Amino acid sequence: MKLEQRESSLIPHPSAVETLRWRAGRLELLDQRLLPARVEHVACGTAREVALAIRDMVVRGAPAIGCTAAYGVALEAARMRDASPAVFSSGLERAFEALAAARPTAVNLFWALERMRALVKAAGQARPADLAARLLDEAHRIASEDVAANRAMGAHGAALIADGARVFTHCNAGALATAGHGTALGVIRSAVAAGKHLSVIVDETRPFLQGARLTAWELGQDGIPVTLITDNMSGHLMSRGEIDAVIVGADRIAANGDVANKIGTYMIAVLARRHRIPFYVAAPLSSIDSSLASGEAIPIEERGASEVRGYGGLEWAPAGVAARNPVFDVTPADLVTALITEKGVVREPDRGKIAALLRQ
Ligand code: MRU
Repeated sequence: MKLEQRESSLIPHPSAVETLRWRAGRLELLDQRLLPARVEHVACGTAREVALAIRDMVVRGAPAIGCTAAYGVALEAARMRDASPAVFSSGLERAFEALAAARPTAVNLFWALERMRALVKAAGQARPADLAARLLDEAHRIASEDVAANRAMGAHGAALIADGARVFTHCNAGALATAGHGTALGVIRSAVAAGKHLSVIVDETRPFLQGARLTAWELGQDGIPVTLITDNMSGHLMSRGEIDAVIVGADRIAANGDVANKIGTYMIAVLARRHRIPFYVAAPLSSIDSSLASGEAIPIEERGASEVRGYGGLEWAPAGVAARNPVFDVTPADLVTALITEKGVVREPDRGKIAALLRQ
């Protein structure tokens, strides 16, 4: 079968949102920079284009970045399927390097590249064309497994959310951040599908506005009630008893259960503890980095100052004022009420419980 014919029917899209899809031998990414104003897909034909799309936030969210990187490898392999084994192998190596350099914090990127690399190693002396076909199958598999993991997470997590709950989330950990269904928003979707009446509160999530632009839009697509607040309002709402639970995603979880997630998550976790509100993290096992002893070792991406000085071409801060832009922070494990994974719920996660989870 020709590569072009292996269509993305292998990627199930259980929500209205098509974050990534395989069409006519190319990877199409929903351009999240344009949402909610425009729903447009951009097509990528090379690993370099895919790496740039990840770096420039066309696609974002830890699991989505991992799936996208896997397709980046598959695209490059397809491009070189008629090359000699030596040219194929060095070209593929450059693709791995470009993709690994795209963004540093979400471990799913490196996890997915490792899976693709393992397949290359196991294939030994396979012909480039055969290997290219197998790499595309593996990319499809990674995407399908991500959706399945999110659905399993949703089923486990839904049981934790009471009917009528007002659930606070931060950033976007939805279908837009995964191959489909979502992690934190997946739990909310599953709870709603199970008949619970939930309402969601999301903060804007400065500076890139994933909450205001993406989560508000994504939940609206599914008809789930959502209220937008600014990043500095959650403490007030918690103090007035207007938030029943917090649920967020993760970009990397260390061996001791510390969680790196979108900047601002740590602040929310501290507030939730102060107000005795459960703070849940929903993430697949591919977000756990057991090679890092604690969150201190998690690399935190720092993006350009212009993202803080303004948005969308408009700068409201004084021109050239110094600004910091670390885009993730680390929430210590002891602030996490429970970690929701595809293998079940881990209450009060710590080193021992994370190790046991990974052994399952
Ligand atoms: O910078 P982003 O938009 O890639 O950051 C995304 C997040 O922090 C998400 O909360 C995280 O990746 C979990 S997504 C299921």
